[in-house]
Amino acid sequence: MFKIKKIRCEYIENPIGIGEQKPRFSWVLGSDEKNVFQTSYKIQVSKGTDSFSNPFWDSGVIKSDNSILVEYMGPKLDSRTRYYYRVRISDNKNNKSPWSKTNFFETGIFDTKEWKASFISCDASENPEFSSSSPLLRKEFDINGEFVSARVYVTSLGLYELWLNGQRVGEDLLTPGWTNYNKRLQYQTYDVTDMLKKGANAVGAMLGNGWYKGHLAGWMEDTKEDTKERYGKKTALFLQLHITHSDGSEQVILSDKSWKTVAGPILMSELYLGESYDARLESPGWNNPGFNDTGWAPVYELEVDKEILVAQDGVPVRRIEFISSQKMFKTARGEIIIDMGQNMVGWVRFTVRGPKGSRVVLKHAEVLDKDGNFYTENLRFAKQTIEYILKGKGEECFEPHFTYQGFRYIKLEEYPGEPRLENFTGIVIHSVMKKTGNFECSNDQVNQLQHNILWSQKGNFVDIPTDCPQRDERLGWTGDAQIFARTACFNMDTALFFKKWLRDLKSDQLENGGVPFVIPSINLIMPLIMNDKDICHSSSGWGDAAVIVPWTVYLCYGDLRILEDQYDSMKAWVGYIYSQAENNLLWNTGFHFGDWLALDAKEGSFFGATPNDLIATAFYAYSTGILAKTAEILQKNEDAKQYRELYENIVKAFQREFFTSSGRLKAATQTAHILVLMFNLVKEEDRKCTIDTLVEYLKKNKWHLNTGFLGTPYLCHVLSSNGRTDVAYKLLLQTDYPSWLYQVSKGATTIWEHWDGIKEDGSFWTEVNSFNHYAYGSIGDWLYRVVAGIDTDEIKAGYKHIILKPHPCQKLKWATAEFESMYGLIKIKWYYKNGMMRMDFTIPHNTMASVMLPYAKMDGLMENEETVKSQPLHRKAIEKDEGVKVELGSGTYSFSYPLDISIIPDVPE
Ligand code: BGC
Repeated sequence: MFKIKKIRCEYIENPIGIGEQKPRFSWVLGSDEKNVFQTSYKIQVSKGTDSFSNPFWDSGVIKSDNSILVEYMGPKLDSRTRYYYRVRISDNKNNKSPWSKTNFFETGIFDTKEWKASFISCDASENPEFSSSSPLLRKEFDINGEFVSARVYVTSLGLYELWLNGQRVGEDLLTPGWTNYNKRLQYQTYDVTDMLKKGANAVGAMLGNGWYKGHLAGWMEDTKEDTKERYGKKTALFLQLHITHSDGSEQVILSDKSWKTVAGPILMSELYLGESYDARLESPGWNNPGFNDTGWAPVYELEVDKEILVAQDGVPVRRIEFISSQKMFKTARGEIIIDMGQNMVGWVRFTVRGPKGSRVVLKHAEVLDKDGNFYTENLRFAKQTIEYILKGKGEECFEPHFTYQGFRYIKLEEYPGEPRLENFTGIVIHSVMKKTGNFECSNDQVNQLQHNILWSQKGNFVDIPTDCPQRDERLGWTGDAQIFARTACFNMDTALFFKKWLRDLKSDQLENGGVPFVIPSINLIMPLIMNDKDICHSSSGWGDAAVIVPWTVYLCYGDLRILEDQYDSMKAWVGYIYSQAENNLLWNTGFHFGDWLALDAKEGSFFGATPNDLIATAFYAYSTGILAKTAEILQKNEDAKQYRELYENIVKAFQREFFTSSGRLKAATQTAHILVLMFNLVKEEDRKCTIDTLVEYLKKNKWHLNTGFLGTPYLCHVLSSNGRTDVAYKLLLQTDYPSWLYQVSKGATTIWEHWDGIKEDGSFWTEVNSFNHYAYGSIGDWLYRVVAGIDTDEIKAGYKHIILKPHPCQKLKWATAEFESMYGLIKIKWYYKNGMMRMDFTIPHNTMASVMLPYAKMDGLMENEETVKSQPLHRKAIEKDEGVKVELGSGTYSFSYPLDISIIPDVPE
């Protein structure tokens, strides 16, 4: 049956409060047949589920095979309005689908003039004694008569939690998220129709410091810099509640002077420090109508420019998983420890019984030291401490509100009574992103590596992509995000997550195009390694996130709009480098992190040995090349030509500067060789010598890498795309230091910041030592794209044209990967048994795949037990040196062929 299986608007089935004036629709085709393509679509949008006979917009029948991110082209959309949409399509087999199910999208507030509310604050947020406490705010109101719907549009300076009639509004955490609050403050929209009632109602809110007012980059206390109040000194609530009555009239409840406030039970809440909560100070019923609030103080209004308000453009953070604690034990030092069995991010929910005034005190840590004791040095100023004072009434249950922790172990410093494992549950929080990828193979340690990569993504995709989730840092380091973006897009649906963060990047970009080290920017300086206060932006490999991340999102989701939206920012970044570079071509000025943490660094240094000017010019070329392609795609022909020329000139200048006349790279490091191969900066005639030299270095290093942040992500890629898949596998499968599996063999459950986070003797690197840092997890991209072999064509991005090219290896018996693309599920599995190679593929409808069956010959190639030779030729199988190449339309396929395993290169000894 031909039908539409899934239909979404702006990546979400039924989005509410969207800021897009021209939202886009995507759908997935369902059919039992093979080789199915869409030939036309028709979209209808209406204001009611039953008014499609007279739709608000009807696209008409459009002849097109476009089924993802198809733009709304109808009349101007109204603010705060729900629209229903549906689609029907036809295919190349003359099938016409029935209408899809009807979904809806609802617009947010489009016009600043519609904001009538005020930002309301209270004294507690000014008084230093209460500077990290959380005030409560409340208001009562009546609803006279019947009402049909209600929406609340809400945000805050600082973080907020909202209640209506005693019930928590929505499930989102750490709202309104972290943006450059001076320019962009996201508001959230909730449908609260079912939470209100006729007659008396109450709305209540609690505010926390969060990123707005709280401590950030705590280590800068070393420098006596102010580490708090980076955006402002006062937290405030901003809210508009629109209630639509049955007669069409509207009642609006605003945050304004009529609200009242009181100090709440949260005495202190800070992202890094944790939370102190005194349950004795709770005001039961405060967020319900009828509560006696005499004695509560008035609030006051703050002057804030409403132009900064934007609809939520990312995805909210929520509780996503629940982990049962695994073990409880006493350490040599006598500490009582609970082990969650997984390094995780979020918090602990606990239950407790005890006398009024007794306390629970929990500390959180990622690792135990070599003697098995609780270890917190690597958290630096982050205290990660939860303190709860009991009210003493039966069983009490607690979860913190405006903080989160990165941890595997909890130390019970105080707990009344006998603690039991079931009293403690790990609550895993992160941005809402559907898991879209899976990779597995016959090697359990590699599978654990994939598990660790995924968990480092979960732990660090908390509203913004952070470097780490535990120490006093947790910042949106651009380099880390850039390196990991491609892997992230496989594991989870990150299109909206990155869309928001790229808007943050653009809004924080300097006037000269420079890109701050961290986004959102807090003008961060790194006193450990540099003292110049002006250096807080534009390191190569980091600032390039401005170009590489939008390009990656485009490749993985076929999202053209991200390129359109970010185009000026991309151009500005390349323009910045242009202005800094010698003759506009060689970037040999400024501060760079370089091949950060590479092992060829001098003893005690963070900076790898690969020269900065080589790295900077290499990334300059890479970003300029991407920009040229982007300009072509966006049909900005003048720009395209100009950037293409610039790109070619940078490459020539690069070759003159960094290669000897005989075609050898002057810089004798692994990373230098990796970058020139990856970014195609080597003349074709010198390619062989370059790859051979890289392999020689690896061999000299006993087949171990010594690369840092910028070389590592590409290392296996350049080996496998230059005929040395054997060496790439050798590196992947190493289990001793330094290697990806070294940390696995040391029991890691997330990716470490340092290759030697825990040394062979059990001691630690230094105190700057995160055990949850996704950067080196960028190997995940190679597992998906090369080991399993799922890739997209750049020309038909978003997997419209899929490249399926597995790379079997003697040391693996099988590998499989799945990826839920915008078009549907792509699946690949290869396995080798008894002299036969078998390859299974699933290709979604409305796509084509070029499939490579490695080492296959036409003779003996079978599809579902029949020889391919005897099958219809429409799939044009071609025998090549590397194997048989087949072009396939949608469907599920299974090929098998005899293979003498000894012809697959084994890993070198
Ligand atoms: C972060 C990194 C970041 C780096 C800059 C560190 O403190 O944790 O991941 O990219 O600084 O080099």
